[in-house]
Amino acid sequence: MNTYLFAVCPQTKVTWTVSQSVRRYRYISATKLSKNMPGVSIITGGGSGLGRALARRLVQRSNPIIIVGRRENKLLETQEACSNPSLVRTVVADISDPAGHDAILDALEENEKIKALVHNAAVLEPVGKLMDMDPEKWREHIAINLDGPLFLTKKLLPRLIPDNIDEERGGRILHISSGAAHYPYRGWGAYCTSKAAFHMLYRSLSAELSPLGVSVGSVRPGVMDTPMQDLIREKSELELPDVSRFRQLKEQGTLVDPEEVATFIDWLLNDTNDVEFSEKEWDVRDSERQSWEPKLFL
Ligand SMILES: NC(=O)c1ccc[n+]([C@@H]2O[C@H](COP(=O)([O-])OP(=O)(O)OC[C@H]3O[C@@H](n4cnc5c(N)ncnc54)[C@H](OP(=O)(O)O)[C@@H]3O)[C@@H](O)[C@H]2O)c1
Repeated sequence: MNTYLFAVCPQTKVTWTVSQSVRRYRYISATKLSKNMPGVSIITGGGSGLGRALARRLVQRSNPIIIVGRRENKLLETQEACSNPSLVRTVVADISDPAGHDAILDALEENEKIKALVHNAAVLEPVGKLMDMDPEKWREHIAINLDGPLFLTKKLLPRLIPDNIDEERGGRILHISSGAAHYPYRGWGAYCTSKAAFHMLYRSLSAELSPLGVSVGSVRPGVMDTPMQDLIREKSELELPDVSRFRQLKEQGTLVDPEEVATFIDWLLNDTNDVEFSEKEWDVRDSERQSWEPKLFL
């Protein structure tokens, strides 16, 4: 707890104390994996697509989870689809709304720690030219894709910080990124901008929170066969000039299976050390993927 206070109010002498702790923490964290760490895993956007696949995967591992989304029926479908529904808590909440953050905090048991917070929820809309953008729709988009993860992290941070940084590891935060964070796609100006800022949020939070024992990572999941892609394929060429490419990927059967991405994320959350987890943005298609594949598909 002291370390947390020192870190938010650094002064000469205090900074020295923190950096000693950080060095010790990095030594411990480079050698410890989070596999057996207790605590609940929270997945925003757990009612569909990647969030649902990840929920199923973590429950297979016997992890208790909390899934969050605005549509209750979708969350309940995910709960039923898990091998042990009793491990799944559902929270109907909008991550762009502070009341939603309160509801998620309320779903935690007293003193319950968070093992992983996966910021997976996001929206693609509004699509179309930036010069035609409606300011209100822009603000709603940023409130979900950027402000939501930031202020949910802030709300839940005390449950992610370890009680004793020298002996325990903290929880992990994972940002679900996108190729759109790094490349402009015509018609996706809002999404590309929010995902690019979300990428910098991962890097900034990683620098800020690692001294507190909380690791922040990021992963690009590839072009997945989820409701978000269904929505993209429905758009006109006027709205999304490159839409035919995404229709082709579906026709050719080359969209990535979200179950496969969930397997990768499970490995990332549970089988990497803190330095590996957070030092760069992971891409499910990386050649380094070979280092996890054999372990998981034996
Ligand atoms: N599919 C792809 O090709 C692809 C590629 C790169 C990155 N990604 C990223 O992967 C992540 C998962 O997307 P997906 O492909 O699985 O699409 P998806 O099925 O549309 O999942 C998005 C989820 O976010 C939830 N959500 C949206 N706004 C919310 C809000 N305000 N509060 C709470 N939950 C909210 C939605 O549930 P409710 O509507 O019920 O709230 C939904 O379950 C996203 O971050 C996306 O940007 C996807």
